Amino acid sequence: MSMSTPARRVPIEPQSVDAPLTVSAVFLVLAVVDTPEALAAARDAVSRVPDVLKNVAFRDLGASLSCTVAIGDAVWEGVMRTPKPSELRPFQPVVGAVHTAPATAGDILLHIRADRRDLCFELERQLLDVFGSAVTVVDETVGFRSFDVRDLLGFVDGTANPVGQALAESTLVADEDPDAAGGSYVVVQKYLHPLGAWAALTTEQQEAVMGRTKSDNIELDDADEGQKSHKTLATIVDDQGEHDILRDNMPFGSPASGQFGTYFIGYARHLWVIERMLQRMFLGDPPGLHDRLLDFSTATTGTVFFAPSAAALDALAGIAGGAGS
Ligand code: HEM
Repeated sequence: MSMSTPARRVPIEPQSVDAPLTVSAVFLVLAVVDTPEALAAARDAVSRVPDVLKNVAFRDLGASLSCTVAIGDAVWEGVMRTPKPSELRPFQPVVGAVHTAPATAGDILLHIRADRRDLCFELERQLLDVFGSAVTVVDETVGFRSFDVRDLLGFVDGTANPVGQALAESTLVADEDPDAAGGSYVVVQKYLHPLGAWAALTTEQQEAVMGRTKSDNIELDDADEGQKSHKTLATIVDDQGEHDILRDNMPFGSPASGQFGTYFIGYARHLWVIERMLQRMFLGDPPGLHDRLLDFSTATTGTVFFAPSAAALDALAGIAGGAGS
């Protein structure tokens, strides 16, 4: 994203939230050990992420290695030493009549992306060395590109993502919260798919669930009433227009252990937009008619983070390494 674009609304360099879609990714959720020393060490480690990234990325500049580091509500003030972003709060569980979006633990998210699995692996290794005993690993998920950016349900996933100037506008906090400007809310959820049940549907039934055709990815019309498709329930419109988010979902799993999943990751300028999407999916609109995608996708985790701007990470480097709490 060019910093010289005159129309740019956030004059603060973000992390690489808008990094290109890659063939490989690692989603690492960490918990900070509950001591003042661990908090200080975690602060130091967070401030060093950009340098560690640079060292590994330089080994193949063509592989688009990127890493976004994001911080959760519980440790924000201790790690960042700045006021909390105005909307930052823990993941709000959504309990529908049939399906639930649970909240699960996590203080720090590392979202590593590259076109080479070895670069993701090496960066993860070096970063975990830097975090050391200040953290424990809550979840490590390795995602991979599947064919033409398809999820394991067989649909092209990510088409409606914003592009160009709209990308910054829908993902980066701007003047509405100056302390958090250039940063982005991040929501992650791990979903598991019972692929046998999904395969028992006809292609037409699957397309009605998603709201797009399967082979050529053409958008179907929204239903005016009754059961809505996933893409319709995930579309948030109010009198200011449509509110987009950036998704970089990745398949993960292991055929040998019968595990087939989608790692959902959404970046947004406003947390409420993703929260509203989840309510529409899990509670339904109208209430009771939940997103049928959930009959074939079980949410097993749910955590909220905020990815501070690159400038905020730089500023952190100035105070990290100092006294504990
Ligand atoms: C099992 C998990 C999920 C799968 C497999 C999945 C898959 C898809 C697919 C195939 C599409 C249509 C193509 C596209 O525009 O990307 C789509 C659209 C979309 N999904 Fe999901 N999704 C999942 C979960 C979620 C969640 C949890 C959210 C938000 C909280 C979400 C938000 C969206 C949005 C905003 C769109 C675009 C709607 C539009 O404007 O057309 N998805 N998803």
